[in-house]
Amino acid sequence: MKTQKHDAIVLSSQSEKDTQKAFLETFREAPLPDDEIIANLGMFLTSKTLSRVLFFYELYKKIVNTHGVVMEFGVRWGQSLALLSALRGIFEPFNRHRKIIGFDTFEGFKGMADEDGARCKCVDGSFSVSEDYEQYLERLLGLQDALNPISHLKKFELVKGDGCETVPAYLKAHPETVISLAIFDFDIYKPTKAALEAIKPHLMKGSILVFDELCDDIFPGETVAVREVLGLNNLRVERMPMTARISYAVLD
Ligand SMILES: C[S@@+](CC[C@H](N)C(=O)[O-])C[C@H]1O[C@@H](n2cnc3c(N)ncnc32)[C@H](O)[C@@H]1O
Repeated sequence: MKTQKHDAIVLSSQSEKDTQKAFLETFREAPLPDDEIIANLGMFLTSKTLSRVLFFYELYKKIVNTHGVVMEFGVRWGQSLALLSALRGIFEPFNRHRKIIGFDTFEGFKGMADEDGARCKCVDGSFSVSEDYEQYLERLLGLQDALNPISHLKKFELVKGDGCETVPAYLKAHPETVISLAIFDFDIYKPTKAALEAIKPHLMKGSILVFDELCDDIFPGETVAVREVLGLNNLRVERMPMTARISYAVLD
């Protein structure tokens, strides 16, 4: 199966693409017995995929002593949400207040604007997922949580719909929300700006904002939104050595 409606620029060279194809085939042909596949998933990490896991590991350590929820804006298949959920299980399995909330249309981009430029070659609907995918992800995250303590208390939420509407609506319905970690990965201007504006009153000193596309020329809309809502000169934007694109700022 190949990703549908996703024409975004791929920066890999042809030889990298060929190797990635061979890697996928080797993964699919893995002669491991069923009861050993999950325990051996690390075999199929590459330096690139492992780097993101390491980033979230380092990031999670920074929030353990802060209070509040984790929000991800742009979930797609849910890998980051699942990683964060596993990290919560490791570092603070009894912290029922550390809810992890993911926002996505689960139907791809919505609200492409002039601020997003033309380089990404995306349209509304790019980066869509399979039909009813959120139901699969809900089941997966539920099973993952069931392997941790106090699993009878649900600690994650998937919010489906246009982030321009769902983020303000969620926060209106949950005025108690304090945000420890907010991860911006909508990629595009309009929902990023709407989410930033909505979460601003729920941030505190020490909240961490993560940006997947800051300073990215293929998806300029995220930077424009951050500049307009927060002002870049109000943020100390840092990065970690293992990842190139992803950056973060601790509010002070
Ligand atoms: C790059 S993907 C997110 C990847 C994910 N964070 C991860 O780590 O795997 C961008 C996501 O933003 C979502 N998105 C874009 N515009 C949106 C909007 N207006 N409202 C909600 N979700 C939106 C898309 O559906 C897509 O799943």
